[in-house]
Amino acid sequence: MRQVFLILLTLGLFSCNQQTANNKDLQNRIDSLEVKLANTYRPGFGDFMGTVQTHHAKLWFAGQHENWKLADFEVHELMEAIEAIEEYHPNRKETQLIGMIYPAIDSVDIAIDQKDLEKFKESYTNLTNTCNKCHHATEMEYVEMKIPNLSPYSNQNFDAAK
Ligand code: HEC
Repeated sequence: MRQVFLILLTLGLFSCNQQTANNKDLQNRIDSLEVKLANTYRPGFGDFMGTVQTHHAKLWFAGQHENWKLADFEVHELMEAIEAIEEYHPNRKETQLIGMIYPAIDSVDIAIDQKDLEKFKESYTNLTNTCNKCHHATEMEYVEMKIPNLSPYSNQNFDAAK
């Protein structure tokens, strides 16, 4: 009887040890994943703004050529870059102000849906002013956006497949 008890006790302790070893192993794996996650490359606020700038420019030329499919694509790419700032930089204080751009983007989107060139120009001007409003509010007034007069993308035909 005593022997049986001792055997059971030994088995019990063994499985407890096993459990602790498993927990340690899991903790180590979590720790190393956390380090990996913290060191993962993540584009900066300014990198996303560079992407916003690209789509802001292309949006204008698409609209000027009344290439509404392309304009629709560009306005949504612009929106995605803005949303990425909210997702990847939620703790930057500037991010609190980014919401001001959404109504401006929406009215460009409506002009595109209506294929209305005049409305497009008006809403694009308002969009550009809103970029600058936020740059002023975030002490970035030296980054002044304007309506582009020449496409920097000479390798893209803005008249394509309308
Ligand atoms: C939150 C308000 C906010 C809005 C809205 C905003 N920006 Fe910015 N923008 C910033 C901030 C802050 C920076 C500086 C980023 C940094 O710290 O790297 C910046 C930087 C930039 C830069 C400089 C990036 C570079 O590498 O030269 C460009 C270009 C730019 N923004 C374009 C735009 C355009 C175009 C729009 C409108 C479609 C816009 N921004 C809307 C806040 C804003």
